[in-house]
Amino acid sequence: MLSKSDFGKDFLWGVATASYQIEGSIDVDGKGPSIWDTFSHKKGKIKNGDTGDIACDFYNRYEADLDLLKAMNLKVFRFSISWSRIFPEGTGNVNQKGLDFYHKLIDACLARDIQPWITLYHWDLPQTLQDKGGWANREIIDWFCNYVETCTKAFGDKVKNWMVFNEPAVFCILGHVLGIHAPGIKSIPKFMAATHHVCVCQGEAGRIIRQNVPNANIGTTYSCMHVEAASKSLNDLKAARRMNALLNRLYIEPALGMGYPTNGWEALSRLEPFIKDNDLEKLPFDFDFIGLQNYTQMVVKAAPAPPLMWALEESPQKRKVSEITEMGWEVYPEGMYKIIKQFDRYEKVNQIIITENGAAFKDTPINGRVQDLQRIRFFRNYLRNVLKAKREGVNITGYFVWTLMDNFEWAEGYHPRFGLVYIDYETQERIIKDSGKWFARGFDI
Ligand code: FCB
Repeated sequence: MLSKSDFGKDFLWGVATASYQIEGSIDVDGKGPSIWDTFSHKKGKIKNGDTGDIACDFYNRYEADLDLLKAMNLKVFRFSISWSRIFPEGTGNVNQKGLDFYHKLIDACLARDIQPWITLYHWDLPQTLQDKGGWANREIIDWFCNYVETCTKAFGDKVKNWMVFNEPAVFCILGHVLGIHAPGIKSIPKFMAATHHVCVCQGEAGRIIRQNVPNANIGTTYSCMHVEAASKSLNDLKAARRMNALLNRLYIEPALGMGYPTNGWEALSRLEPFIKDNDLEKLPFDFDFIGLQNYTQMVVKAAPAPPLMWALEESPQKRKVSEITEMGWEVYPEGMYKIIKQFDRYEKVNQIIITENGAAFKDTPINGRVQDLQRIRFFRNYLRNVLKAKREGVNITGYFVWTLMDNFEWAEGYHPRFGLVYIDYETQERIIKDSGKWFARGFDI
């Protein structure tokens, strides 16, 4: 048995979402195109040819969707701002109608006693900025700071909880090395440039929020997973060490004042050409909390190729693990505990929030009901591991489910369903799944 109250009365329970995955209305009220609008319309990039054109139509349905959140007794709504709604061209003229939408959304949260938590960047860069080189162009530091300045000045009197980035490792690696996410680039130098600019922006944005938002609670989020070597061989252990540096250390350690983790992965010396005078001082920022987003673990073995990393994932299918989600990810609840402990070992991490965790399984509505027992079991087991770390003294103050409702899952399209709420994409009908009801009643009580 597990209950919400085990986590204490001040523990925050919420859901996380992202603009492109839910909003739709991609070209209304003056919004400019983002790299995800462009990428999803390219042939063969997204499964089934899906796009975020309509998504959950959240742009028009946010009031009713916040009612669902309320019905599930969840207090926090984490959402991201679409940069190209505010600046259709990335910089220059502010689009008042874009600001108005987020004002209305924030007001609708506050009216329901739901806390709005803003992510400033959840992957949908304005296309005009990508046309100038995007994250690989150093000018992005100015573009991003200008955007952050505008958002914090506009919303800072109403919103106290801010996150700079969603998962830098994912948009840098999948977008700039593997090319499977927008902007679809495959280039190690561009990845290195983007990574450094993201890390400078991370610190600079933190300082802008601190200056513009009174009593702000400032964080940023990291994708993270326990990395296990496939064997005890020295080569596998070294490969796991490199992978850990890339996946778990690269973006947080500069923020903590530790510099880049070249001691874990020598190839990070290739960041050097992009590091200009005084940059290193701009990397650290005292975040109030660190958002951890965990889904699975990775088992790694040494590989003769590809170069640079010399490491390959041993797939869950090959390892014949007992449970795999619709994303092909291993269900590994102990990994949640292990990764929390790993991040807690950083002296400067004072507070951890699980800003995303969840699972995609096949959901079938039967007579208006979605009995997603497998997802309930997933939450129960992952939450037990959060609780274990908390009871050992880690300062974990909240847990946000990925996600409120089924939505556009990037390159995978609409097929994986992560929501606490089921969406019929034909009719946009919403059904609270049994897992949503489980959260509503405070678990197995
Ligand atoms: C995370 C992303 C989020 C969603 C989940 C499943 O990496 O932050 O947008 O796609 O994975």
